[in-house]
Amino acid sequence: MPSEKDIASLTKQEASKELERLARALTQANQDYHAKDAPSMSDAQYDTLKRRNTAIEIRFPALKRRDSVSNQIGAPATGGFAKVVHAERMMSLSNAFSREDVVGFLENVRKYLNLDARAELLITSEPKIDGLSLSLRYEHGLLVQAATRGDGETGENVTENARTIKDIPLQIENAPDVLEIRGEVYMTHSDFFALNQRQSDAGEKPFANPRNAAAGSLRQLDAAITKSRPLNFFAYAWGALSAPLAQSQTLAIQKLKQFGFSTNPLFSTAGNIDELMDQYRNLEALRATLAYDIDGVVYKVDDLGYQARLGFRSTTPRWAIAHKFPAEIAYTYLEDIEIQVGRTGALSPVARLKPVNVGGVVVANATLHNEDYIAGLDAKGQQIRQGRDIRIGDWVEIYRAGDVIPKIRDVDISKRPTNSQPYIFPQTCPECGSDALREEGDSVRRCTGGLICPAQAVEKLKHFVSRSAFDIDGLGNKQIEMFFHDPDLPIKEPSDIFTLEARDKNNTPKLANRSGWGKTSAQNLFTAIEAKRKISLNRLIFALGIRHVGDSSARLLAKHFSTWDAFEKTLTSASINEGKEWEELLSIDGVGGVMAHALVTSFHQKATRASIDRLITHLTVETVLKLAGPVSALAKKTLVFTGTLQFMSRAEAKAKAESLGAKVTGTVSPRTDLVIAGPGAGSKATKAAKLGIKILTEDEWLELAGVSS
Ligand code: IVH
Repeated sequence: MPSEKDIASLTKQEASKELERLARALTQANQDYHAKDAPSMSDAQYDTLKRRNTAIEIRFPALKRRDSVSNQIGAPATGGFAKVVHAERMMSLSNAFSREDVVGFLENVRKYLNLDARAELLITSEPKIDGLSLSLRYEHGLLVQAATRGDGETGENVTENARTIKDIPLQIENAPDVLEIRGEVYMTHSDFFALNQRQSDAGEKPFANPRNAAAGSLRQLDAAITKSRPLNFFAYAWGALSAPLAQSQTLAIQKLKQFGFSTNPLFSTAGNIDELMDQYRNLEALRATLAYDIDGVVYKVDDLGYQARLGFRSTTPRWAIAHKFPAEIAYTYLEDIEIQVGRTGALSPVARLKPVNVGGVVVANATLHNEDYIAGLDAKGQQIRQGRDIRIGDWVEIYRAGDVIPKIRDVDISKRPTNSQPYIFPQTCPECGSDALREEGDSVRRCTGGLICPAQAVEKLKHFVSRSAFDIDGLGNKQIEMFFHDPDLPIKEPSDIFTLEARDKNNTPKLANRSGWGKTSAQNLFTAIEAKRKISLNRLIFALGIRHVGDSSARLLAKHFSTWDAFEKTLTSASINEGKEWEELLSIDGVGGVMAHALVTSFHQKATRASIDRLITHLTVETVLKLAGPVSALAKKTLVFTGTLQFMSRAEAKAKAESLGAKVTGTVSPRTDLVIAGPGAGSKATKAAKLGIKILTEDEWLELAGVSS
């Protein structure tokens, strides 16, 4: 490579070529470092290239490229894409796998809306595109932002890249002032094969399938690369809007078409389950002839008024469902069974397979669930696979449905080696040697080592920094493994993350001087950690990795308790066995006895509790605002519904009341504020009258809740 002083003698043409080469090299290095977690050059090499880039830009300012690394100041300190908080969460879809599941979906919709069997309920159907979702924001008709889904709440800003996709209009006529269009970015089969050919000609790794190719192409730091990749976009949904699009899904999709978007031509509507199933079979038959991958059919309630009433569960709409195509199947050898220890101590058997192609994806590992599954039993102790057990050396049937981890479904005993032995599940933890026990009624065997088990500790840390938890840039699974085993600068528990920089000051060699690290990457990590000292309550609760407390439960808890202090106080004062203090936990919709027990237990375990306390000293926990917008007359009121409601189902009434800040209970007590009594109300209404509690008719309730009947 020419030395620094050669810059003075570069011609304009040479400089332009050189800047292009540097942009490519630096972008690649950034990507290897951040996206692939596999640095391809040392920090010193990176810095030299970057300095050279800047020096050339100073001499030839007009040649400065839009994708130059010196432009990436607005991006997060660690490079990569800037984060975007979606104005409205990007939801996923719940799945149906059979006609019965779809019937269940339709029944739930009718029940929720209180529609009788004769009332018309129009449902749309369209292919489920196997790509990646993208949200496009238009303001006054101009594309101002494109963001990937991310965790649904926060995605990545890929605006420059989205602008290069021909299906995405940069400008729209007659659009509402704010218009967020959502849809799927995908690559056609022929473009995918051609791209892979180019990849292998250039000595690059080919993509596993069109979806990965589309994702890899959209998430390029250099928009010029995205532009060179043939991406397409189907619009099928929307987020924030300043004015409604239409009254039905069908008309809204037509509107999207008028705006200039591509919409899927295989869209239709149905009035009953038989018509829906016809459309499903029709799309399934067409699947092989389509130019792009689809993995199911999406059904949506057509009436947008109904959609608004049905609303969302924590991560999925009640008004839509994805009916997935059957899983793909393949056969191979089971070479070994390995036991992995998870963050809650669960011993999970993983099948190591002779790699096999399952519907376009090479599968080398599959889950074996638990010891009963290997032995041929289900959770209730009943035989599965007619009692056939699974052994190392067996010829097995693998299936893969969509994104889920491949599973071993069956075993061909006729091909079993004669000397094979049943698999003996370990009774001790393979990582720390502690006893591994199965609690009564639990199908999972768990290591009892707690935090002394290195596998549990390291998995807890990985969970702590994961995307829906602390999401620390530059601190992924690989770095956690490294720091966990680092004798000089260890991270053994979450609080150690926040003392890392201070400890590094007194260390030799400093992180910046270690192999794989440099001044920039070390400083970037410290900056990223610093940024997460302020954290939302739901992320913190989720990050603690308490059993049964997932992302959406953490949100419910955060919403209920609003502050860390309130959450901590309740869990500390509650006794391990169900008692009076449990009432508050159990009153939260979505929290049951199992979760309450897990929460209380973790706050009573000395080591866990001490570790949480050490962590908290480093954090500022953001308070969750309980009610957005104007405070409603129902806020903080306790309501009881009784009798038959004519307009809404109980479920809808409850959801509506809760969305206005009220609590809904099943029994009338002196603490009840309002009783809503429909026809047929009995003892609850009588009791309310005795206690002097205000009783409303359904119409009065609808008015109070601001719903027009
Ligand atoms: S509707 C509120 N329609 O499937 C729900 N999604 O598994 C909005 N997808 O995240 C989604 N084709 O990325 C919808 N025709 C379609 C779709 C579709 C593919 C994706 C989408 C979503 C995922 C859920």
